[in-house]
Amino acid sequence: MQQLKVLITGYEGAPFYKKGGLGDVMESLPKALSNIGIDIRAVIPYYDSIKKQYHLNKEREITVVFGSETEHVGIYSSLLPDTKVLFYLLENRKYLFSSNAGGKNKRIEQFAFFNLAVSHFVRYLSEYHKWTPDVIHCNDWHTALIPLILKQKVKLEIPTLLTIHNLLYQGVGSLKVLDLLNMKDEEAKELKRGKPATEINVLGEGIIHATRVSTVSESYAKEIANDYDQSPIGPFLQKREEESNKKDGKIVGILNGIDYDIWSPAVDELIFHKFDINNWEVGKKDNKDDLLKCLGLENRPTFCFVGRMAAQKGLDVLIKAINRISNFNVNVIILGAGSPKIQASVLKIAKKYPWVKTELIYSEELAHKIYAGSDFIIIPSRYEPCGLIQMIAMRYGTIPIASDTGGLKDSILNGKNGFLFKKGQSARLKKTIERALSRMKGRDKFKKMVERAMKTDFSWDKSAVLYKKLYEEMIR
Ligand code: ADP
Ligand code: GLC
Repeated sequence: MQQLKVLITGYEGAPFYKKGGLGDVMESLPKALSNIGIDIRAVIPYYDSIKKQYHLNKEREITVVFGSETEHVGIYSSLLPDTKVLFYLLENRKYLFSSNAGGKNKRIEQFAFFNLAVSHFVRYLSEYHKWTPDVIHCNDWHTALIPLILKQKVKLEIPTLLTIHNLLYQGVGSLKVLDLLNMKDEEAKELKRGKPATEINVLGEGIIHATRVSTVSESYAKEIANDYDQSPIGPFLQKREEESNKKDGKIVGILNGIDYDIWSPAVDELIFHKFDINNWEVGKKDNKDDLLKCLGLENRPTFCFVGRMAAQKGLDVLIKAINRISNFNVNVIILGAGSPKIQASVLKIAKKYPWVKTELIYSEELAHKIYAGSDFIIIPSRYEPCGLIQMIAMRYGTIPIASDTGGLKDSILNGKNGFLFKKGQSARLKKTIERALSRMKGRDKFKKMVERAMKTDFSWDKSAVLYKKLYEEMIR
């Protein structure tokens, strides 16, 4: 059989540009797919912030008609370091200059433009590189118009997979974007909400038009399906199921993995001291000593939080729990950036207790040091499609204490390699912290738990094969 060709696309992709877990996945999944013999290429926007760091050579320029304007799109490329994965970056000064074009309608225009550019870029790949993807793998709302554009505008019959990483973000906004795409409203009638229609739901559009839809854990797939009535995306999911044959209509859940070339304490250049499963006790102690010294904390059991400051991540639950454990004699380290309101409440609690330290920044280096030097990581998410931080932390022998939801539930075995508590409940979180501390005192049992966590396999090996099977089903 001929080698399967896949083009994957999203709004971010490490190492070029990363804001959260999608950035990790856009780097590690292509690498894993390439390792199992898939001919994979990736395409993301070439934001100015990437340009400042990576000076790539321009391969060619194509033109795209958007609204009444003819826009130029520069095509740049680079191999992902130490891989055969070719990354393309698309440049346009008007729409793809910054990763955040402004208000919601501007952002929808921005990514509609990117989706159109990607669709024309596919033609370019076929004509100039004699490389036509068998499947196009879209990720989240930022690339969810591609299935529709391919069908209605570019007239390319290539199967598309849409992976939902976070249902909260759907790209709901003005219908004007259809004019810019030179599409009639009827061509996209599924998009409209309200009577008379005023808005487009970009993710909903992707859900209706993609060949298959997936998400990043089995539990989240079920949670989404059970939520049909409440979620604004519910009608799209339901319609999809009704209209396609049963199997193709369903959302598939495939758990993410992590890249052990990046996330392994044995090779990690960013941590204070490298270690592995054979010397983790010394390794973690040394990392912890240096981390606590840097942050001006005393030597105590240390809990951390790493993540975006968004309502999803449940910092309110963490803050309430911190107030409940003020007599526990522990440290809490919080690393994150995002909503100013959440940041302010985190700052407030850090001012109240000297044993709570917070860094309101995005820092890869500090994140690595915190994973390596903490005893526990608290993940109080209100929902979590997959979550990578629990997987990363476990690899560094840091035990997760997480909400029993989505991918957290699918990757943590309660009491074995981590702890789960009822989501949204700070009293339960407090109790679970107590449970974790008492486990830490029982040295042998704790040692077993850490070693089990470090050994749990979160590589992409299994999931990459599941994606391959799904792609093969789609082209059959
Ligand atoms: P999400 O995608 O919802 O943000 P994930 O758990 O899937 O959550 O992935 C988060 C990724 O972003 C991890 O690689 C984590 O280390 C990283 N990250 C989040 N916040 C920060 C931060 N403030 N500094 C450095 N890395 C961060
Ligand atoms: C999203 C989700 C997170 C997931 C990541 C990568 O940002 O919030 O749970 O791990 O995407 O799929």
